[in-house]
Amino acid sequence: MSGTPRSKEFDDVYFSVENGLAETRYVFLKGNDLPNAWSGRDRFVIAETGFGTGLNFLAAWKMFEDTAEDGQELDFISVEKFPLDRQEIALYLQRWGDEFDGYLERMLEIYPALIPGFHRLNLNDHVRLTLIVDDVNYAFSHIDAKVDAWFLDGFKPSTNPDMWSETVFENMARLSNIGSSFATFTAAGAVRRGLKSVGFDVEKVPGFGSKRDMSVGRYTGERVPQKKEGE
Ligand SMILES: C[S@@+](CC[C@H](N)C(=O)[O-])C[C@H]1O[C@@H](n2cnc3c(N)ncnc32)[C@H](O)[C@@H]1O
Repeated sequence: MSGTPRSKEFDDVYFSVENGLAETRYVFLKGNDLPNAWSGRDRFVIAETGFGTGLNFLAAWKMFEDTAEDGQELDFISVEKFPLDRQEIALYLQRWGDEFDGYLERMLEIYPALIPGFHRLNLNDHVRLTLIVDDVNYAFSHIDAKVDAWFLDGFKPSTNPDMWSETVFENMARLSNIGSSFATFTAAGAVRRGLKSVGFDVEKVPGFGSKRDMSVGRYTGERVPQKKEGE
């Protein structure tokens, strides 16, 4: 069936039933002020939690090809502990086959074997995907990069707490420049507090479609200590 992919284990969907691509563009691209953010930059680095079907990657890659100037480079780093196989991705993304004509085929062509580790994939001479097949907490602790924009796309924090851990947030701080941005579909209090505690400013903005809120923000380096229960 080619419907919306769902995880039984995490009781959540990979993307919105109504319009996953529109949600991706709203939450992650607009939420990180793309394409403005890469304007005038020789190299731009995006890091994502949860590669899933690669929908976010494809949307960012296509926007980059449509808007970047000659000579600019995009590095997209993504982490996935439970990788889908090629056939599953092809099935789930077939509804956007026209939109991603050529892009989807190229991504699937070089999509790696599902073995743990770092997979460096050159989509072309100016776009590279580093797909890390591992737990996000382990992976982020072993990356050395400077990330310009974060796509936080785990399953919902209540069922997938590993994707929203202190370790993830601490590593985001370590890997950010002052001004690096993040965007996520969730406005959960624990996520907002966690990000503030490592030095991000966090803003609640209207969510996509029927979702009331989501969160965006930037790394300032000024940590806001988390209040303990009852304070
Ligand atoms: C909402 S889906 C991501 C959707 C994806 N960005 C897309 O464009 O299709 C969340 C993803 O996080 C992955 N995930 C869950 N726990 C994880 C963990 N501890 N480490 C790494 N990936 C994890 C899931 O397997 C799933 O693919």
